[in-house]
Formats: sequence, structure tokens, C-alpha cells
Amino acid sequence: MSIRFDEAALTWHLTGPGLSYVVGVKDGLPRQLHWGPAVPDEAVASLAVDPPWETAFDDRAHTGAELLGELGPQFTTPSLQLRHPDGAKGFDWHYADHTLEESAVEGDHLAIRFTDRDLHLTLHYRLWDTGVLDRWASIEAGAPVEVSRFDSAAWTLPHWGDYRLSHLSGEWGAEWQLRRVPLPVGETTIGSRRGHSSHQANPWIAMDDGTATETHGTVYSANLAWSGSWRVLLRRAANGRVAISGGAGHEGLRWTLRAGETWTTPVYSGLFTTAGFGGASRAWHEHLRRHVMPTAEEDAPVLFNSWEAVFFDVAEEKQLPLVELAARIGCEQFVVDDGWFGKRVDDNAGLGDWQPNPDRFPNGLKGLTDAVHKAGMKFGIWVEPEMVNPDSDLHRAHPDWVLHQAGRDRTELRQQLVLDYGRPEVAAWAWTWLDKLLSDNDIDYIKWDHNRPFTEAGRPDSEDPDRAWFEHIEAVYALKERLRAAHPDVRIEGCAGGGGRVDPGMLRYVDQVWTSDNTDAGDRVNIQHGFGQAYPARAMGTWITDEPSGFNQRTTSLRFRFHVASAGVLAVGGNLTEWSEAELEEAAEHVAQYKRLRPVVQHGVQFRLGDPETSSLSGVQYVRGDQIAVLAFKTPWHCARPLAPLRPEGIAADSRWLDEDTGETHWGATLNALGLPLRWKKSDWDSAILRLRRVE
Ligand code: DGJ
Repeated sequence: MSIRFDEAALTWHLTGPGLSYVVGVKDGLPRQLHWGPAVPDEAVASLAVDPPWETAFDDRAHTGAELLGELGPQFTTPSLQLRHPDGAKGFDWHYADHTLEESAVEGDHLAIRFTDRDLHLTLHYRLWDTGVLDRWASIEAGAPVEVSRFDSAAWTLPHWGDYRLSHLSGEWGAEWQLRRVPLPVGETTIGSRRGHSSHQANPWIAMDDGTATETHGTVYSANLAWSGSWRVLLRRAANGRVAISGGAGHEGLRWTLRAGETWTTPVYSGLFTTAGFGGASRAWHEHLRRHVMPTAEEDAPVLFNSWEAVFFDVAEEKQLPLVELAARIGCEQFVVDDGWFGKRVDDNAGLGDWQPNPDRFPNGLKGLTDAVHKAGMKFGIWVEPEMVNPDSDLHRAHPDWVLHQAGRDRTELRQQLVLDYGRPEVAAWAWTWLDKLLSDNDIDYIKWDHNRPFTEAGRPDSEDPDRAWFEHIEAVYALKERLRAAHPDVRIEGCAGGGGRVDPGMLRYVDQVWTSDNTDAGDRVNIQHGFGQAYPARAMGTWITDEPSGFNQRTTSLRFRFHVASAGVLAVGGNLTEWSEAELEEAAEHVAQYKRLRPVVQHGVQFRLGDPETSSLSGVQYVRGDQIAVLAFKTPWHCARPLAPLRPEGIAADSRWLDEDTGETHWGATLNALGLPLRWKKSDWDSAILRLRRVE
């Protein structure tokens, strides 16, 4: 990677693996002059020329703007909205200077500074060896200024004939649904107004011209490192150009920067590839694992989790038989979920009172932690530190510690309210009890849940109540970072009623995430297909639970459920005390099989084989060194749609592969031509695992 500055042309040329990003100050505005395939340095100045075929629409003067402003003929919803004390609006860009910090570990950091009135606005760039470009911005206020929008970055796509948007949407229990739709002329907004990144929309997007496939074609993709409300605006102009502006916060928030204050946006990352949607996903996976997630190089253990096994019924004596059985089938970590503390025997009471319930845990947590460790497993525990039930000692003592507005009802969802972490006393309380919980007990892992969105968020005694939306998330990040530093051996699972808060911002502070409360293996095939567009298998918590599924009453075999759950970080979430001997024995075999696959699944490169949206046959192929693991799934099929075999990706014709389970050897050419030798057992809801090792 390198960054070349041309002082005469006022351009900065960022080059990475096979790509260039050129930013320049043109007609007074910072603009993206190029983002795509590598260009020679000598050609950079010529990129600043307006091509004669561009139609002269009135807002062309703003094409390529690095942030869409409010001044001049710029009629798009802005990326940056400011109001000065005298009523003037916007930021009038005056280039000041730039700094370049080289780094051997991270990408080099370019900061380009502009001034207007008493403000300094800096655009930041960091291009990584993965091809991911991080962009963010900061404002240093010399005098007060009101802000109602401050996006991290705006990206401009090449001028194409057509544009297609891929994004992830859904709802609780149905997160990660991949949508691929034409982008209409006009403004398209995706985002969250919920205070968390949300089940309904994820900040990841991909754009192509309608012709990219899983394996080929140019794809631009972006993702926002922010776990609160957010907005991504895609503007397709009538003349064909597309700008994408993204950042934290939602419409209608406003706050005032104080003199001397600096406000920094979260990172909005962009990615360019010519290797199709699969190539884009692999680049994101590699980037998140190598540069964002804290411990992705570790093998994540096989978990047992008590939630679906017993729900709130988690007394010590009822957990002990599960401990024994979980260890027996090969689980490596036992996680006790909701219901262990305060008066939390259901979801009506107790959140906020973080002492073990003495009726359920007469020996404190020690009885259970000792049993779990004695059984050779690690111990994990569920917490939901940002929430409180009104029926709790904490809320009775501090009713004003929750996000609320003067004179407005406090809407309860799941009988709970959100604590206002922007209040220093609340953040201090959370640190104290969490630190004590981890210091006083032998805990290896916490599952950090967050089960409701914000409503009526505010703080009546604050001059700037909308800051609460931002401060809460910053405080959660800071608390997790502090806990990690104080308890470096403890691992954290990020959870928000399933996959409601999975984004590159949260992935910096958690070791894995909970993907969805929907653990039906049939639905999971699609859910995991969507999740993997943006996030790696190493982050994806996958449970095998009892059938029929509580979500849809579907019944599938133990084998199918285990195989689907083996595509990420495997966990067992069924009530093992009700499993037969035969089921326990079979489960032990599946867990052992997963452990053989684990290095390839958790640390390998992932290829999606087939699309479960359109085909009854799909699979995931993971490659690491000379090893390949394929997990393949057959959902109900229709005789009118005959199934083509699944073929591997990226296998040389003259390579030879040993099937590690049958001992057969296959030519790469044969696998490519005839497909993978998957051993199916029946027709619907079937699955197969194949382990191949390259031989000379
Ligand atoms: C929502 C989570 O997604 C579940 O796994 C479980 O932990 C419950 N919360 C507990 O209340």
C-alpha cells in the first residue's frame, strides 16, 4: 500500500492490492476522482478532467463529493448538516493541509484538513492490505455549531448503465435475508432508528451494475462500524451517477458542538473487487478476522447454552445434569443463560439486580462454576447490562437512570427499559458490578445480550439530550474495552435478541456473535447464507436445538441440524436430559466431527456453493492450506427443478484430493466436471459433509 501526494494537482493517490483510490481537491471541493482498478501515478492528474459525455445537470458540480454538503447547487440529502449561531448553514471547504502517518501494522493514515469559519474538518483515510478502505471524518469546533447530520463518508460509484443494490434485511427471528434489487433513480435509504444496528437492516451493502455473479464481476461494498442508529443513503441521479453516504444517527437528531470540542464519526469502510459477490465476502471476512475482531485467530470452543434447554428455569441442581451431559458429548464451554440472578424467574422482573438468586444458586455461582470446570469445560454466563426491569431494586433506587424524556411515557418492551449509559454514574455502576462478577467468580465467557430498541431516548436534565443516542454506544464500547483489558482471558459474545447488533463496530469488542434466535436448521440455511455475505464463520454462533422448532414446528434430523450448525461456531442448545442414549452418542460423533472441521471452518476461506434462495441444493466450502471442508444442504426440492451437482470452487484440474472419511482419491478435474461426491441419505432436509486433503 502507498499514498502519493501531488502538490500541484492537489491529489492523493492511495494504492492497495489491485486497486486505486484517488481523492483530490477540485473546484474547491474534496472529491473522489477514482475508486477502482489500479491506475498509474502518471495518470492521476488526468482523472480530474470532466469527461465531455457527462450531462451538465445542475448538481454535477458536486459529483464525487467526499461528503455531500449544503452549499451551492447540491440538492441531494446532505452528508453533513451544520447550523452556525448566526443562522448560516453548511461547511465551505478551504483546504488547509494534510498529514500522513505511516504504519507497519495498520494501513497508512491520511488526514486531509479543511477550514471554514472556526471549524476544522478532517477527512480520514486508511487503506488496508485487504483492499478495505476505512474512511471517517472529524470536526474540531473553535466556536459552537449545531449539527443535525454528520456522515462518515460518501462514496461515488463509476458511471454505469444500471445499478443493483444487495442488502440484508429481516426481523427478529428472520435476520440476514439477502435482497438483491435494482436501485431506482432518486434516493433510497436504509438504516435503523432503533438505537442498535438492528435485525431489520444491517449496514452492509454491495453494489454492482446488474451483471455481477457469485464468482465474477465488479462489486463495490461498504459497511459501517457503528452499533447504534445509522443511515445509509443511496442517491441515483437521473444522469446515472450514484453516491452513497453513510453514518451514525438517524433523521431528526441534533446536537451542538461546544467550542474546543472535537466530534469524530465512526469508520465507514469500502471495498472494491472484480471477483464477484463471493470475492467481496471473502475480502470482508479476511479483513474483519485480521484487523477488527480481537481473537479471531483462536479456535472458538464448542458451547453448550442453557436457554432453549430450560429457558428461565436455571437452578444449580437442574444445571448439573446438563453439565455432565454437555461434557460427555464433547462441549468445551458451558454457558448459563438468563434467569440466574435477582428475581429473574421470567422476563417480568429482576434485570438490573446482578446477584445470584439464592433460591436457585444457594452456593452462589461457585457450585456451578466448580462443576463445569471439574467437567473440563469453561464457564460462561449471560448478562444484559444495558437494561433494567422496572420491577427491580435498581430501578426502584434510580428511576431516572433510564433513557427517557420529560413528561413522556416510558415505553416498555419485554417489560424492560434501557439504561442511559451516557450518564457517568450509570457507566460506573455497570463497570463496578461486571468487574466484580468477573473478579469474584471463575468466569471465562460472558454472553452480553441487549433485548430491546430505544424509545423516547433522551435525558431531561441535559442541554443536548440527543447526544444520548451516540453516548450510549460509545459507553458500551468503552466498557467492553475496559473489561477486556482488566480480564484479558474472558471472551465476550455479542447478542441482541439474536442478531440485532452485529456490525464491524461491535465486532471490535466481541469474540463472536449470536446470529439469530431462530435456531430452526431449515431457516438457518438461509439466515447463514445472508450472514456470510458480510461476516465470517468465525463470528457466527450456531446452535443445534431440539425439534420441532419453536419457530415453525419443523422437524429435521439430528444429523441435518448438526451439519447446519457446523458451518459456524458450533453450540448445543437442546435439553440433553431428554435426549436418548442413541441421540447422545450420535451427538458426540457430530461434535467430534466438528472439531476435525473446526480449523478449516473457523479460519479458512469461504466459498458459497449454490444459493439456497433459488436452489434446493446449496453448500459452503471452506479452504485452508491443503484442506477443504464442504457442508452441503438439501432443502425440500421440487421435481420441476432438477438439481445440478454442487461443484467446488478454486480447485486446479491437475490437483488430487483424498476424501478423509472414505479414503478415496479424486482428481480436481473430476470434481470440477462431475461435482462433489456428497453422500446424501434421503431427499428433503438432508445434508452431507466432505473433508478433502490435497495429496501429491
Ligand atoms: C435473547 C437471546 O437472543 C437468547 O439467546 C436468550 O439469551 C434470551 N435473550 C434470554 O433472555
